[in-house]
Amino acid sequence: MAEESLEAHDGASKGKYTIGLGQDCMAFCTELEDVISMSMTVVSSLLEKYQIDRKQIGRLEVGSETVIDKSKSIKTWLMDLFEDCGNTDIEGVDSTNACYGGTAALLNCVNWVESNSWDGRYGLVVCTDSAVYAEGPARPTGGAAAVAMLIGPNAPIAFESKYRGSHMSHVYDFYKPNLASEYPVVDGKLSQTCYLMALDSCYKRYCSKFEDLEGKQFSILDADYVAFHSPYNKLVQKSFARLYFNDFLRNGSSINKDVYEKLGPFSTLSSEESYQSRDLEKVTQQVAKPQYDVKVQPSTLLPKQVGNMYTASLYAAFASIVHNKHESLVGQRVLMFSYGSGLSSTMFSFRMREGQHPFSISNIASVLNVSGKLESRQVFSPEKFVEIMNLMEHRYGAKGFVTSEDRSLLSPETYYLKEVDALYRRYYAKK
Ligand code: ACO
Repeated sequence: MAEESLEAHDGASKGKYTIGLGQDCMAFCTELEDVISMSMTVVSSLLEKYQIDRKQIGRLEVGSETVIDKSKSIKTWLMDLFEDCGNTDIEGVDSTNACYGGTAALLNCVNWVESNSWDGRYGLVVCTDSAVYAEGPARPTGGAAAVAMLIGPNAPIAFESKYRGSHMSHVYDFYKPNLASEYPVVDGKLSQTCYLMALDSCYKRYCSKFEDLEGKQFSILDADYVAFHSPYNKLVQKSFARLYFNDFLRNGSSINKDVYEKLGPFSTLSSEESYQSRDLEKVTQQVAKPQYDVKVQPSTLLPKQVGNMYTASLYAAFASIVHNKHESLVGQRVLMFSYGSGLSSTMFSFRMREGQHPFSISNIASVLNVSGKLESRQVFSPEKFVEIMNLMEHRYGAKGFVTSEDRSLLSPETYYLKEVDALYRRYYAKK
């Protein structure tokens, strides 16, 4: 659905969603898809496209904040895909904390591969979410997607494991206390400030670890690309500007004389004041813009086109970089910022390497087929979107229903929900 049409439908002022929030389109699930079916689709697609023997998966971790069952993990549904080959020896379950669960799952898998318990097989990480909000200002910041990532040694996308910086604390910025509803309780303004505070804290820790180990200062110039968890693009623009402000306060090499003069008047703000200052926000965004265009813009394609994908958002931003820059990525560093409300956050980085077929960067870009996937989308009107949201509200937590027989919307090879029986058991099939 186009954000422009939703803007008009909601009676928002023209440009509020498209320029104000910076979003182009928003994806959502119909009754045929959910976080489980999307996970099955991405896992089976990855295994088939890279011709991975299903017995070669030794760990499977899922990150999601979309609750379908309070006990049974999404990972257990995915075990259906390994039944035929008899591989039930797969560790891992689900990780949950808002948009951070995917990063927790990824770090678990990477740690496993780097550990004594590693048995030589691949890890597999799945991030899957349907981001839906009740009617109101947060609704245009929804989205839906799943991403699958294969983890192993000698990877073309290599973790710089020593430089992670995390920030975790207890806040009520966005949470889902009402178990009868899929919608979160959200304090939008607080969530924006928490995100930026977490970013500052993670960046400081990342820089400090880098400096301790490398014996030289880290500035934003040391990252070739930066990918952020992307609830909506405007927050990503503000976040990159905030890294610039951090460099300014740290006397970083990214800040030239001209920028020093422009940011000078803000050097005496307390950190609390700095989050509220509209002038600071404006000036930092302006001075960071040339570097934003180079380092951040390539990551914004999927988040702007699909919306907030919660756990999958950061990895869809990274996939956008691979799609846009695959010809020149070897040797480059990508800085990643993961944020989940509540809150958990980590900054980490990847170093890109050549990789051997089928794991060369250019083959990964071609398997991702980002353009093909975007072009094959079907456009819905806001009226239809609202009708579907109303149906999904009734279906959430319901039992004893079958879904529509019209599956013409789905691409071939997509998994879909067929039925939920009287005992809440869910049945899926592949188109
Ligand atoms: N043309 C251009 N820009 C406009 C227009 C217009 N007609 N109208 C408003 N704007 C701008 C505003 O100035 C503002 O930009 P700014 O921040 O640079 O000043 C922007 O559009 C948004 O307008 P607001 O009035 O601030 O929006 P509102 O308060 O209605 O909602 C919010 C925004 C809080 C982000 C809401 O969508 C929300 O709660 N989303 C969910 C929470 C969220 O995503 N938090 C992020 C981190 S946590 C997570 O990932 C879930």
